[in-house]
Amino acid sequence: MEDLIKRAARDIVEAKKVVALTGSGMSAESGIPTFRDQGGFWEKYNPEVYAHIDVFFSQPEKPWQMVKAFDQQLKAKPNPGHLALAEIEKMGFLKEIITQNVDSLHQQAGSTEVIEFHGNLRRGVCLVCGKYYEWGKISLEVLPPRCECNGILKPDAVFFGEQIPEEAFQRSYEASRKCKLMLVIGTSAIVYPAAGIPQVAKQAGAVVVEINPEKTPLTNFISDYSIIGKAGIILPEIVRELKRLA
Ligand code: OAD
Repeated sequence: MEDLIKRAARDIVEAKKVVALTGSGMSAESGIPTFRDQGGFWEKYNPEVYAHIDVFFSQPEKPWQMVKAFDQQLKAKPNPGHLALAEIEKMGFLKEIITQNVDSLHQQAGSTEVIEFHGNLRRGVCLVCGKYYEWGKISLEVLPPRCECNGILKPDAVFFGEQIPEEAFQRSYEASRKCKLMLVIGTSAIVYPAAGIPQVAKQAGAVVVEINPEKTPLTNFISDYSIIGKAGIILPEIVRELKRLA
């Protein structure tokens, strides 16, 4: 594993233009459960019942019940993996993070170029007038919460059955085509279109490096190599190695 960490640091220095694709495993060490691992979020909340856009339109209180449960987790703090990615950006290597996460922890850690591929749970948007509400400003006492215009608020995250926000989609694909190395961190890589992003980078000639304690459909197929382990341990080690090379 040490050899792979050194290899990743060398490849990052050589590539200069690095993009990261992150998934829920990135925030696991901040205490936020992933979706599909044992004890994961979808074990408790069937996405067909709680996270499909059709459910939102017929029973808007259902998804909000799930979001209310997520509330505690939104108090989570960035872990050493998030902080390491922010540092790799400051060093000038990491140009963009494409995240499937809706928790804002990359931004809290200090990353500035973050594309929210699946939106953000810390915002609500009024379906009538389009006004945005930050998390602390939304009362969850009566569900679904409503806007001052009385329109129903929707969590500003992407539901199943919904399109990826156009700007995030375009920016992600452009970044993936331009990067020379892609770090794929903490995602099972089975939910499309996000799961197709590493392939876009690969086809454009980038080196693809996975960081995950488990294998994924990308392993030995799209990824050039995989560093098997936790993001909160591997990424700070890569930063240490980058500093040694500097
Ligand atoms: P998953 O739950 O599908 O996958 C989590 C991945 O994180 C798995 O591959 C784990 O092995 C890995 N993992 C667990 N702990 C880790 C750690 N400490 N460090 C690194 N990796 C770790 O979650 P996602 O891939 O994020 O979409 O799921 C993708 C999308 O499916 C989500 O954005 C969400 C969900 O349905 C929507 O809600 C639209």
